[in-house]
Amino acid sequence: MPVQYRISGKGAESIAGSIEEAISAGRLAPGDTLPPIREVAAQVGVNVNTVAAAYRLLRDRGAVETAGRRGTRVRDRPATTPRSLLGLGVPAGARDLSTGNPNPALLPIANVRLPAGSHTPVLYGESAVSAELAEFARATLTADGVGADHLTVTSGALDGIERVLTAYLRPGDRVAVEDPGWANLLDLLAALGLSAEPVRVDDDGPLILEMARALRRGVRAVVVTSRAQNPTGAALSADRAGALRSLLAGRSGELLVVEDAHCAGIAGTPLHSLAGSPRRWAFVRSASKAYGPDLRLAVLAGDRRTIERVHGRLRLGPGWVSGLLQEIAVGLWSDDAATRLVIEAEERYASNRSQLCAALADRGVAAHGRSGLNVWIPVTDEAVAITRLLNAGWAAAPGTRFRISTPPGMRITIADLASDEIDPLADAVVEAVHGTGRRSV
Ligand SMILES: Cc1ncc(COP(=O)(O)O)c(C=O)c1O
Repeated sequence: MPVQYRISGKGAESIAGSIEEAISAGRLAPGDTLPPIREVAAQVGVNVNTVAAAYRLLRDRGAVETAGRRGTRVRDRPATTPRSLLGLGVPAGARDLSTGNPNPALLPIANVRLPAGSHTPVLYGESAVSAELAEFARATLTADGVGADHLTVTSGALDGIERVLTAYLRPGDRVAVEDPGWANLLDLLAALGLSAEPVRVDDDGPLILEMARALRRGVRAVVVTSRAQNPTGAALSADRAGALRSLLAGRSGELLVVEDAHCAGIAGTPLHSLAGSPRRWAFVRSASKAYGPDLRLAVLAGDRRTIERVHGRLRLGPGWVSGLLQEIAVGLWSDDAATRLVIEAEERYASNRSQLCAALADRGVAAHGRSGLNVWIPVTDEAVAITRLLNAGWAAAPGTRFRISTPPGMRITIADLASDEIDPLADAVVEAVHGTGRRSV
């Protein structure tokens, strides 16, 4: 195949830069393999160590990954490329069920109006967490059994997770993550130079034996989604949460456990949290899914040291999450109409999940969707299944975005499905899956 890009430069940084350019311009596509180091060294006229250093830089920035004997290849969603250039577009006319988004018609943030003069300006030097938000968050977290003595606010769940991880971990450290798991978290780990240690999940959450194996492999941190696991919809059952708590509590004091609670309010299942165990822990409750992703706000609870580290570092960056946003969040949490809308959303999502899973089961296709916004369907061949589904007018998300070493699948976001879409969608999924050989888990 003719090479559509040119690697150039004399130092590691400039060679890496030229490859980054080619990735952003689309001349090097996700999955493309980079040429062998020796070849590039000969072509550019530099030492092999320089090219190896350039490849290492790209790997540490989350642009490429090592693919065993197949060499080094461009990541699915290279962390150095802005979203606008990623080309994840869905063809015109297709019904887009690939996004993972909540239903915009069910988001309280759409109705926010700030009355003039209602906000007291927050100045430098004030507390990073507004007194009202702290009071509200404490009450709701404590009611859910999550210790709320130490709190901060971050710009969403992923920001909170990143801040907690970087408070303790260094490039090269291992982090146990769900497999399949949330694509953005996997991309974040790569961009931080952290190494993902896969832990398979079933509908009740991470498998105990797999988590024990990850711990034996020396992970420094564990990230678990308590409900609405993305992409499978898994939710920690009481038993699984109890077993995980015992397993994790028995570890050395330096293990960090981060719980991603991104779907509070609309998960559709009760919370069985890991919060409080072991000594270093963090629980991130995001407002994105229930109130609107644009709120960019999450409450982070944890042990004192963890929250202090996050606070201290936040102070040296954005400083704090805007008091305006905090005020809007508190306003929404205490507003009756907003609460009714969130309850309606939770019911609608639960009904869409169970109707789609039942329609698929009737047609002999296994699917998972215990909680949250998505249904996960194991398939034999993702590319074929996704293409067939797209030909029938439905865009689903390919499982490759979420998988490390688990079998293929595809994710369908059910948030804005209308009830008369369920049967035609199930028919199309059956066609797509049967065409690739049926598979159940
Ligand atoms: C597992 C998981 N955590 C967190 C988030 C997003 O949280 P935030 O918008 O607060 O960063 C998502 C969004 O899809 C998610 O799937």
